[in-house]
Amino acid sequence: MIMKEAVLQTLRQGDCISGETLAKVLGISRTAIWKCIRSLQREGYQIESFHGKGYRLIGRPDLLLPKEIKAGLRTNLLGQQIAYHQEVSSTQDAAKSLAAQGANEGTIVIAETQTAGRGRIGRDWASPPGGIYLSIILRPAINPSEAIRFPIIAGVAAAQAIEQLTELKPELKWPNDILIRGLKVGGILIDMSAETDRINYIIIGIGINVNTESLPHEIKGIVTSLKTECGKEVSRVQLAQDILVQLESLYQIFEVSGFETIRKRWKALSNTIGAWVSVRGERERLDGRAMDIDVDGALIVQKADGTLERVISGDILGVTGQ
Ligand code: BTN
Repeated sequence: MIMKEAVLQTLRQGDCISGETLAKVLGISRTAIWKCIRSLQREGYQIESFHGKGYRLIGRPDLLLPKEIKAGLRTNLLGQQIAYHQEVSSTQDAAKSLAAQGANEGTIVIAETQTAGRGRIGRDWASPPGGIYLSIILRPAINPSEAIRFPIIAGVAAAQAIEQLTELKPELKWPNDILIRGLKVGGILIDMSAETDRINYIIIGIGINVNTESLPHEIKGIVTSLKTECGKEVSRVQLAQDILVQLESLYQIFEVSGFETIRKRWKALSNTIGAWVSVRGERERLDGRAMDIDVDGALIVQKADGTLERVISGDILGVTGQ
């Protein structure tokens, strides 16, 4: 561990600690300690120094720095390796190239902003500062046909994390838009590389409007941010940690006991089931009542003539009442 990280780790314990004690504990000079403190302050750490008494950490930068995400992260797999970018074209593309080079399962890519963030169905994903732009590499030992369950798993993880941290009541719109009061606060994009019978990697991309201020004008009225909904800033580091914890736990449930528990949780969080929907599928548009999601996460829609249709991928254009 480099010395600056060791100083930070010691200060994280919360007490006021003298330069002399720090120097003794870490085995370096007081001048070296002072230099570490100055460097941490330049990174945005607020460190108070009391004459004669020592230093105390009173604030952290609002950045998704790996050392912040790793501090106290309660996961065994997700986020153990972190690639951090101030700015990147797309975390999804950065994660794909890491995965193709053999990055470990659980590696994440996280960025403060994206210049070419991607949404579903070829859309752009506006990625100004204040959001979370996160891509997670998984290598599940399952048949590629089972991968269509991952949008549902990731949606449940993100919604549970938001609920736990903010006490807001997020809802999921099939397949995986995260909504608050009907407005979109986050989305999920899945990319996969597979052979006929095995998956090389899945990239779960999660974008959340957390403290985002400058969402493009034309999408105002459709989207919201957690800050707007809570009336105050939400810790992005804490939310990123909570998403990783929730996703790791659901991934374990999926591996050990299958999809059923997650399917039930998704249904409990869904705003779609029971509603009249208009779905733009791969080939055609479909109107009817959303009845269920099946064992794969596909949407079951009952048309006006009573027949059932199974939609594997698509976009719900309108949800009209229950
Ligand atoms: C959608 O609702 O259309 C999905 C949006 C997914 C956005 C995330 S942000 C992190 C990752 N990187 C990207 O370029 N896209 C996903």
